[in-house]
Amino acid sequence: MADKKIYQASTTAPVNIAVVKYWGKRDPKLNLPTNSSVSVTLSQADLRTHTTAACSSSFGNEDTLLLNSSPQDVTGARTQACFRELRALRSSLEASDSSLPKLSTLPLRIVSENNFPTAAGLASSAAGFAALVRAIANLYELPSSPTDLSRIARQGSGSACRSLFGGYVAWQMGSKADGSDSVAVEVAPASHWPTMRALILVVSAEKKGVSSTSGMQITVATSKLFKHRAEVVVPQHMEMMEKAIKEKDFETFAKVTMMDSNSFHSVCLDTFPPIFYLNDVSRSAIRVVEDINKKAGKIVAAYTFDAGPNAVIYFEEENVEQVAGVLKSALGSLDGWQGRDIKVQDTEGVDAKAVQVLKEGVSRVILTSVGEGPIRTEESLIAENGEPLKK
Ligand code: DP6
Repeated sequence: MADKKIYQASTTAPVNIAVVKYWGKRDPKLNLPTNSSVSVTLSQADLRTHTTAACSSSFGNEDTLLLNSSPQDVTGARTQACFRELRALRSSLEASDSSLPKLSTLPLRIVSENNFPTAAGLASSAAGFAALVRAIANLYELPSSPTDLSRIARQGSGSACRSLFGGYVAWQMGSKADGSDSVAVEVAPASHWPTMRALILVVSAEKKGVSSTSGMQITVATSKLFKHRAEVVVPQHMEMMEKAIKEKDFETFAKVTMMDSNSFHSVCLDTFPPIFYLNDVSRSAIRVVEDINKKAGKIVAAYTFDAGPNAVIYFEEENVEQVAGVLKSALGSLDGWQGRDIKVQDTEGVDAKAVQVLKEGVSRVILTSVGEGPIRTEESLIAENGEPLKK
């Protein structure tokens, strides 16, 4: 009788928010970027994808993926690339040890759940692909390092390669045509600078207008400013940012974060036709952060925006009242302060109109911090009989 055994393994993986942004592909097929990038991994207590990967000859003929209980298409080139590469690694293990079960030949059943709204524009593809790759690598018992796996996750979604690590992470663009040196590496673990906080202002929970994938392709094809960003601006930002992280120099970290976000959104505007990710609420968040810094007499907060209007504001715990306290005076009625008792500050010296726009335009806040990379878990989303568990 054929072996019907169900093999499975589970992991959780984090979201990351870049402080030097990835924007532009030099090879869309292999997902190779035109510049390096750096991100901060956020705590999985607030934002994470939980994934179980299973395989069995009893699963029919096809690979399947269920995200938050709804079936996803796995036939796309990106997911297929991840499956193919992971199977190839398993298959060479099987070739060198005939006692290993031939898991590489079995159909995969993947079940995933996010603990945050998938469509909120919160880098869900990064956590999603990182969790998918890590879970299958666990299932296949691959000896691969996080950097090895980042090479695979990158092909799912570029930013996903950085979610294989916790703390402060760089994606080195690499120069080889086959992409073998385009990988993520740790700049510093979360424990090196554990006081980093991130306040996410969810401005819109709608799916973004122009996806990152197509937006960056149009930028590469049409923006002349883009070349300057990739060749001159980003290399400078990379060097300054890695040094700032190593030295825990918040002012430089913050300045580069804000300038890099501004540079990225400038090349979006320089794209033809232009891409607008920031809206009036985003611009008000910038204004309020500027005023918070003026009020403090030094840089205590940094804003950054991805391919959508949501703001992420980085600050250090020691300045929680100066930063989050001011924003809480406008947004205190919203959920997401994680039960933290932050003393509300007065908004004197902070643009009253901008505060009002935030009050009207922000629908949710998430107060979180720097966190760990993927964590293996015994908590499974698939029952022993192979069926997805209902939550
Ligand atoms: C603005 O990683 O979503 O968030 O590789 O096409 O999947 P694909 O793009 P994606 O782009 C992220 C762009 C960004 C900046 C960043 O995270 O570095």
